[in-house]
Amino acid sequence: MNETSVLDDMMRDRLVAAARAAARNAHAPYSRFGVGAAVLLADGGVVTGANFENASYGLSLCAETVALATASGAGRLRDVVAVAVIGGAMDAGGVPRGAAVVGPCGRCRQVINEAAQMGGRDVTIWCAAAEGDAVERYTVSELLPHAFGPADLGIGV
Ligand code: THU
Repeated sequence: MNETSVLDDMMRDRLVAAARAAARNAHAPYSRFGVGAAVLLADGGVVTGANFENASYGLSLCAETVALATASGAGRLRDVVAVAVIGGAMDAGGVPRGAAVVGPCGRCRQVINEAAQMGGRDVTIWCAAAEGDAVERYTVSELLPHAFGPADLGIGV
């Protein structure tokens, strides 16, 4: 294993751990499914988010969208390099459990694509589980091929 792949693995593990920590702050009393997301920025900074449900169910926000909106609000949308997501059914203490790998929903893929377009990077997406070592690596162009983006509006970035 070379130095670059060791660093990549460390960054992946750090990001998954941050997503797991964030998921503990999920506001998900309706689905009882906690999701956490962690966004890696080009300078090594990490921004996190958790799903944010609402009694008016359709208003609920996904963890990835919360994390990316937070990055955007900090002026860092162009700096997004990777996103990690984890999720699982909550136990009685509100902690997501389970070893099933979770991937971003369709809407979140589109939101990740916005960051990818603004930064000119094919953002890496790490899909992991609430517990265990399973993790899958994708890029946003793999998970959302032929995406609608700024170019479709005639806007160059
Ligand atoms: N959820 C996310 O936070 N991210 C996804 O990519 C998929 C779904 C949330 C929405 C809702 O609060 C709960 O998971 C169950 O759908």
